[in-house]
Parts: sequence; structure tokens; C-alpha cells
Amino acid sequence: MTLSKSPPAPSKSFTSPRALQAWEKLERLALPGAVEHLRELLTDSQRSQAMSAKLHGLELDFSHQRVTPEVLSALAELGQASNLNLHIHSLFGGERVNVTEQRAALHVALRGQGIQNPPWGEAIQLQVATELERICNFVTRFESDQLLGFGGEPFTDVVNLGIGGSALGPLTCVQALEGFNQDSLAKAQRARVHFVSNVDAWSLWQTLKSLNPRTTLFIVQSKTFTTQETTLLAQSAQRWLQDHGCPLESLPLHMVAVTARADLALTQGFLPDQTFHFWDWVGGRYSVWSAIGLPVALAVGNENFKRLLAGARAMDEHFVSAPILQNIPILMGLLGVWNRNFLQAPTHHIATYAYRLRGLTPYIQQLDMESNGKGTHVNGSPVQVQTAPIVWGGLGIDGQHAYFQLIHQGEHLLAVDFIGVRQDPSCPLPLAKEHMQCLHLSMMAQAHAMAVGRDELHTRQEMQSNGLNGEAIDALAPHRSFKGNTPSSSLWLEELDAFSLGMLMALYEHKTFVQATIWGINPFDQWGVELGKTMANQLAMPLKP
Ligand code: F6P
Repeated sequence: MTLSKSPPAPSKSFTSPRALQAWEKLERLALPGAVEHLRELLTDSQRSQAMSAKLHGLELDFSHQRVTPEVLSALAELGQASNLNLHIHSLFGGERVNVTEQRAALHVALRGQGIQNPPWGEAIQLQVATELERICNFVTRFESDQLLGFGGEPFTDVVNLGIGGSALGPLTCVQALEGFNQDSLAKAQRARVHFVSNVDAWSLWQTLKSLNPRTTLFIVQSKTFTTQETTLLAQSAQRWLQDHGCPLESLPLHMVAVTARADLALTQGFLPDQTFHFWDWVGGRYSVWSAIGLPVALAVGNENFKRLLAGARAMDEHFVSAPILQNIPILMGLLGVWNRNFLQAPTHHIATYAYRLRGLTPYIQQLDMESNGKGTHVNGSPVQVQTAPIVWGGLGIDGQHAYFQLIHQGEHLLAVDFIGVRQDPSCPLPLAKEHMQCLHLSMMAQAHAMAVGRDELHTRQEMQSNGLNGEAIDALAPHRSFKGNTPSSSLWLEELDAFSLGMLMALYEHKTFVQATIWGINPFDQWGVELGKTMANQLAMPLKP
């Protein structure tokens, strides 16, 4: 991987983004009337062509963003003034970019297998390769029925016990790659993978009630191996096994640990061969590429898991080398800053137009809001700019019939990412093509309607052409008009497979990093989650004997 040429010498002292000239220029460009309404901007037939960027079948169309070439140029200037290139160098070079925990954040190294002279060094390259080989060997043993339960039968079902970054990434992948779990293997099917993250007993019971204890394998996913919810889920799972005839000494056969604290797992009785490791320089919400991805490999096979890594690496190569205004993660990061800090949109909506991507929004919510929901600059001073927006959304088609009313006619300005898949040959239903067309038309129509709206004049004409009389028109026109000018980007995948999914997930990781760099915050710590845990433990104190 060739990082771009050496960046300018870093500025030693922290500069508030608000102090940058580019910031002031963008504030002027965001004044009312400075940029035309989208219904005017979109009359330019060349706009869509000019405002798009592509990578291996992934396409970003940002023509429905409230930007002009002048705004884009000022955003590029802001990126340069924020030393974006230097920060990317530091990230890939394994520097301690997680400044409050004094750690690197090297999720990019997890998908860097086979790179000559990796910027993160050969030692890490070897560590990652060794653990990846262990994971693949375990999957091969599972697929060849070498992994047997207490009754001597091969495992059929895998239950992932984990929460946050120890669940959302693998869950997103397993759901998205539905249909890739069958292949030439003699085995009737790969593992049926289930996910339980919530400590509510019903959540675990809902899964266990339909499983055979003799052929169920549990993967306890926890970077710290101290997350209370996961620990209790693991205890409950072991009790379930024992209540169904599993001898105490056979329990470890049914338990796998994936953690940065292998020492804790081993002292708790997990077998060394069933304990997989990742490192403290992998953030939980950035960890799906590590052993945390084991459920993915069990569900869709080693080759598909490696394709997922390859897709992410392709996005990494693009991120470190593409020019700023053709660089998809940088463009999305800059556009997010424009909408958040200059157009003052407090929330960011993700609308996925592919059922198999139903896990993506919760994944992005943690990635974005746990990374950038911060109030302190890297130098310890209170932030002088707004940071992460509230990220919300889900499946777009369902949203159209639930909350799109607010987006179209509410008083909240918000920005939208529409995410769609152009073709999907894998669904066996006879009318799958018609379903796909309905998804495409809905996604395009919603993006356009949000952008151009329908002013009262056109609403009156529409109502008149539908035969309504003057009185009805006068009464209803204000209620049936649409202000429009809601900005959106549309991301299209040619097909949803392991490679394109890897690109998509890495894209959002890098977008998050770009925004953190511009805001001058640390995206890799999460001190905000500890107070609640501490108070829960204090409340529990009197209950303990
Ligand atoms: O409490 C937040 C958090 O630490 C997330 O950052 C993390 O992904 C999740 O909890 C689970 O943590 P662990 O993997 O250590 O169980």
C-alpha cells in the first residue's frame, strides 16, 4: 500500500477548526440565499455526472447535496487546512492516534494481508496473519465436522454472545451475505449463526428455545471480557447446556472466546484452541475484520470472509491515494461537515433500500456516534464546533410508511444517505426483478422529492388537474406543499457481496475518521460509556452479600 507522498510538517499546536480561513469562507457560503435551492441546482443536466465518484462498482452520487463547485472547493480547502493527509498517514502508520488511551487504531492492518512493506510494519503484519490463519483453520474444522459437542455430534448452530462492536459488525455481515452461506461444500449447510446481545432473559430464550444443546456452539465476543451483559449471557448459556445433559467437563467444547484478554478467557476455562485474540489497537466498533469476524466466516466461509477483507482494503487504497474531491470517504466526511456545521442539520438519516442491509444503520450508529459523540478537542479544550449528528434511520421502504412524513414536511433540517443495490441475482423468488425495480424507483423518487419538493403553485396546479375546486384548493394547498431542499447522497452497490460490503463498511469507518479530524476530536475512545457502568455497579453493591 503506497501512502501518498509525505505530508506537510505537522502543526505542533492544536488549531481550532473555527479559526481556519476555510471555515469562515464556508460560513459565508452557508448564508441564506448563497446557494440556490436544489430544485434550481438540479436543472443542470450535467450535475449528476459531475457530482459522482466510483470505486469497483460502488458509486457515490452527491448531486442532491446543497453544494456548488465553490462550496466543494472550500470544503477541500478545509480538509487540507485540517492536515487530513497527515492524519491519514498517522492512522495507517500505526501512530498513537487514540491520544487519550495512547494507542494506535490499526483496523486497516487487519485487512492488509499480502501488502508489501505495510506502513504499520512487519511485526503487526505477522501477528494479524497468524490469528487469521487460526480463525480459518477453526472454520475448516467446523465445516469438516471435526468440532463435536458433548454428545459426539458435529455442531450445526453458532450463538454469538456479545454487544456493541462485539455484535453489530458480524451481525451486519451475516445478514448482508444471506445467500452466500451455501456453496460447493459437501456439508448440507454452513453454521446457522444467531446473535444475542441483550441481557434480557427473553432475548436469549428466544434463540435457545429452538436449538439443540448437543449441536450448539457459543462464541463469547468481548474485547475487555468484563462486559456485564455478555458475562451473564455466557453463564446463562452454560447453565442451559448443563441442564440439558452437558457434563461440566464437556462445557468448554461448546464455548469459544474472542477477546483482547485471552488471559481472562483461559483462566475461566476456555480451551486455548478455542480462544481467539485481537489487540488493544483495534477499537470494538472497528473490529469486524479481526477474530470478531469469526461468526461471519462460520456463516459464509473463509473465502467470503477474505473477500470482505479485500473489499475493505480496496477502500483503504482508495482512501490513501484518491484526490480529495474524488475520494469517496473524504467527500462523504466533508459533506457531512457541511450539513452539520454550516447548514446546521442536527441529525443524519441512513435509508437502506436492501433488506439484507437492515443491520447497517445500527452498525453506523455505533461507529459514528460512539466515535464522534464527543465534547472535548484532542488538546483537552471544550469543543468550539458541533460534532457528531444524531444518526438514525433504517430500511427506507418501511421508513416511507413511518417517519418520512417528518423529513418531507417537518421543521427539522436533516441530511440523508440513501444506500441501494443495483442488481441482486441471488434471490430465488420468481418476481425478484420486479421487487428490485420497486426498490430502485422508491429510492430515487424519495431523494428527488426531498430535494425539489413541490411549491404551492405546483401543488395548486396538481390539485386543479385532479379536479378539486377553488375552495378545496385554497384550504388544502398549504398542507400539501413541500419545501424540499433536503440534502442527500445516494450510494449504489453494483451487487451486494462480500467485497462490496467490505468497501461499504470501511467507507463509513474512514468517513467517521475524516469528520473527527476536521472537528479536532479523538474518534477512538469512549469514556462516555463508563459512568453508567460505574453507577450500575454502585447500585448493585448493597445487593451483593
Ligand atoms: O460500552 C461500550 C462498549 O465498550 C463498546 O465500545 C464495545 O463495542 C461494547 O461496549 C462491548 O465491549 P466488549 O467488546 O469489551 O464486551
